[in-house]
Amino acid sequence: MIKFIPVSEPTITEKEIEYVMQAVKSGWVSSLGEYINRFEDEFAKFVGTKYALTVANGTVGLHLALVSLGIKEGDEVIVPDLTFIATANAVKYTGATPVFADIDKETWCISVEDIERKITPRTKAIIPVHLYGHPADMDPIMEIAKRYNLYIIEDCAEAHGAEYKGRKVCSIGHCGVFSFYGNKIITTGEGGMITTNDKELYEKAKYLRDHAMSKEKRYWHTEIGYNYRLTNIQAALGLAQLERINEIINKKRRIFEWYKEGLKDLEGIKLNPEKEWAKNVYWMVCLVHENFDEEKRERFMKELKNKGIDTRPFFYPCSMMPMYKKDGFINPVSYEIYKKGINLPSSYNLTFDDVSYICRTIREFI
Ligand SMILES: Cc1ncc(COP(=O)(O)O)c(C=O)c1O
Repeated sequence: MIKFIPVSEPTITEKEIEYVMQAVKSGWVSSLGEYINRFEDEFAKFVGTKYALTVANGTVGLHLALVSLGIKEGDEVIVPDLTFIATANAVKYTGATPVFADIDKETWCISVEDIERKITPRTKAIIPVHLYGHPADMDPIMEIAKRYNLYIIEDCAEAHGAEYKGRKVCSIGHCGVFSFYGNKIITTGEGGMITTNDKELYEKAKYLRDHAMSKEKRYWHTEIGYNYRLTNIQAALGLAQLERINEIINKKRRIFEWYKEGLKDLEGIKLNPEKEWAKNVYWMVCLVHENFDEEKRERFMKELKNKGIDTRPFFYPCSMMPMYKKDGFINPVSYEIYKKGINLPSSYNLTFDDVSYICRTIREFI
């Protein structure tokens, strides 16, 4: 029987089981408890920000960050076209309009030149996404933010521990948002975190996360808030994962090296970039084939699946989706790259033999 190799599976050890058991046994099963505080404190230390705030998932984390910064109907927020849909939808939840910037040909992250082209008097913020584990080029983005007085919300859902010029992502913009979904570098099942150095923003987000309850008067609410909280049980899982994060990232980097070696000299393909100013955490190993279109890619993915190798296609540009589509609008680089790219198995649990088998199979078909 052929072994099935999934694109992604979590790595759970005795440590995670022990912490989760402790949380359950303590009776603190909702959103108060020791693990929430420890996870937030340790995560802030890891990223290098003053504050970290747990949230129920990355999508609501983005929404909460946006509303806490005052983003509302009538505003525009620039997001990369090639990202998971949550980045754009979170903008839409506030009533603001997501404006889709093209991506950079080399990093696949938001294009700095195109951000400038897409700025209007209504632009209030930019959400650079550190796609597939590679940081966006933050210095020029921060410079644009300063020049036009814009907020920067880093979307770090796919890039825990990635570095830009030696600084961890999500410590550079006004705030950052992580996801801890099951396929992410570390997981809490579902979950997320907002990181920031801005005390006022942190306090506002914390208040809105808990139904905007008055600090002075319990059960008194002067505005509409949300229940976007994480549970203590999830935080226990998150803390155990965080204590292993460097080991997990090192393994991801090693897996990428195995792929690089196994696929070297293969004509027409490109794997994940790593700019000289970047540390890529290779959330997903990516393969882009210059001759792929959607049909050829589909066929290739099916062939791999028959050999027990799971893959997933690159994200489609958000501006292609029915709810965002506008006649005649295209972003040339995003519209070209999305159909050529796939994600290969990238789990922590992969062995050298697994990757060798995947590389051999890819060579057979390409
Ligand atoms: C780039 C990006 N942003 C946001 C999210 C949303 O995170 P979540 O699934 O935790 O809501 C994800 C992933 O799921 C993502 O990949």
